[in-house]
Amino acid sequence: MKGIVFNLLEEAVIQQFGEETWERLLDASKLDGVYTSIGSYPDEHLLRLVEAASAALNLPPNAVVRWFGVSALPLLARKYPTFFEKHQSTRPFLLTLNGIIHPEVRKLYPGADVPDFEFDISSPDVLVMVYRSKRRLCAFAEGLIEGAAVQFGETATIGHPQCLHRGDSACRLEIRFFGRPPQP
Ligand code: HEM
Repeated sequence: MKGIVFNLLEEAVIQQFGEETWERLLDASKLDGVYTSIGSYPDEHLLRLVEAASAALNLPPNAVVRWFGVSALPLLARKYPTFFEKHQSTRPFLLTLNGIIHPEVRKLYPGADVPDFEFDISSPDVLVMVYRSKRRLCAFAEGLIEGAAVQFGETATIGHPQCLHRGDSACRLEIRFFGRPPQP
């Protein structure tokens, strides 16, 4: 896992819960927290931090990972505005993941191990994204998708009828987008 992921987690935790919380999570995970963005670190470090946050907040690990995805997205949008500026809504943005965003990430962070999604765009109402990865970070994908919808002023509902965590061979994400309701 690239250091940028740990940098994003640190920034999200400090932004929402403060510096001390990050220090406590590092202590509980027995990690020093020194991550350079292009360095590579064991996936297990992320799992340890997630476990520690899960215990501290009394939340299932997947809920922590999803929260991380939601929180990381606006940080990515600030860091890499060009991926977002070209689009008016979430669906076309997501459709550039395999062809533009993650390939670009591989160039920026050599050795990055990014997932390749399978898309089914046959329905105009539901975008299907099939996810396979040994990391089984489908909750991260869900959070990033939800965060991306917020970024484009939409909301997303995500069905997850097949999941790597439930013994299926892939995760199937069925995503519906809704415009933000008019504000009073
Ligand atoms: C909302 C759209 C996105 C989704 C659904 C998504 C999904 C994911 C997932 C699930 C992973 C975990 C790796 C794995 O599963 O094996 C990942 C890794 C990563 N993604 Fe994305 N991503 C999105 C957008 C972005 C954007 C906009 C960026 C930054 C420009 C980005 C940069 C990265 C990086 C740096 C990694 C870590 C790779 C590594 O540590 O080896 N992603 N992405």
